[in-house]
Amino acid sequence: MIQAAIKKLFLPSLLTFKNGKPVKTKEAFERRREELKDILQKEVYGILPPKPAHLRVELTAEETLYLAGFATYRELCFHCEIDGEDATFPVTQIMPKGEGRFPVFVCVNFGTDVVHKYLPLEEIIQRGYGIFVIKYQDVAKDSADFRSGMAKHLCKSRRALSAPGKIAMWAWAAMRVMDYIPLCENVDAEQVAVIGHSRLGKTALFCGAMDERFRYVISNDSGCTGAALSRQKEGESIAQITERFPYWFCPRYLRYAGKEDGMPFDQHFLLSLIAPRHLLIGSAEGDRWAGPENEFLATAAANEAYALYGMQGLVHQNEFPAPDTELDEGDCLYHYRRGTHYLSRRDWNAYMDFIDKKRVK
Ligand code: GCU
Repeated sequence: MIQAAIKKLFLPSLLTFKNGKPVKTKEAFERRREELKDILQKEVYGILPPKPAHLRVELTAEETLYLAGFATYRELCFHCEIDGEDATFPVTQIMPKGEGRFPVFVCVNFGTDVVHKYLPLEEIIQRGYGIFVIKYQDVAKDSADFRSGMAKHLCKSRRALSAPGKIAMWAWAAMRVMDYIPLCENVDAEQVAVIGHSRLGKTALFCGAMDERFRYVISNDSGCTGAALSRQKEGESIAQITERFPYWFCPRYLRYAGKEDGMPFDQHFLLSLIAPRHLLIGSAEGDRWAGPENEFLATAAANEAYALYGMQGLVHQNEFPAPDTELDEGDCLYHYRRGTHYLSRRDWNAYMDFIDKKRVK
């Protein structure tokens, strides 16, 4: 049934090179990976800005007895040298106390507070995870303003059809945190997850797709131009998203409004780039705007890439799961809960349960 539903969408083939040749091995998929990244950058999110010439991380504040003394809190300032200028954005790091190296989340979040409705910090720390929090608008405003913050350094002109949009910029900032992680004594650089909700779930996916250093890529309720296939999608369409939020994307993406069926890509391209790493997709039953079924279908469609690595990808029962189900048997997680558009404690715990399982292997 799932295979049939995917077939009916006539998706562009993941495993066919641009020149029409088939992609049959994981080595071939590594070459296809470059084509897929190229398509998604040129058509959807814009060309990812290059790494800064130099990165320096400054400790600006520290509290060693945070969360009743069980955590360390640090405020960091990331200084990025771009075209000879010092461009900065802040990041907050909270780590559990103790010996050894901890797995961490790089969380691109909405709020201005570290303890936020989408961020159950105490539970995360108690479960032995550290976290880096980027408050997304500290990097670039969630608006059409490309003249302030990091945006003015990362995009000189919005005239180019493939100029980076804001999603690419927020993702770029998460990659700079990843640059810093190997220098942190108490962080396990092999066990880093990037996570975001909604527009920031789209950001987490683009980040993890473009940067293979992230072992876990978590999209919560990311919907349109995130985890959901755009063809025959319930809820938000490309016309609707590009009407309200054109600046999230590259200018060329606007051309696909109302033209989903003819697009030379769909969101399974994005999800397949996470292979052979772990993809964790969360959907909510009440979040019809995001389109849970198409989020599930895109995850299932990415299995073709996992298969080339001898992996299962998402293990499912060949039907759309009932609410309050975790499909967690394979390399990918599909977490489907009741309720509405939200990043809840329940979601975080499902993601940490899955990562805990993968880490002991
Ligand atoms: C809007 C938008 C979605 C987005 C969401 C969010 O609803 O249409 O695409 O995911 O905002 O970020 O909360």
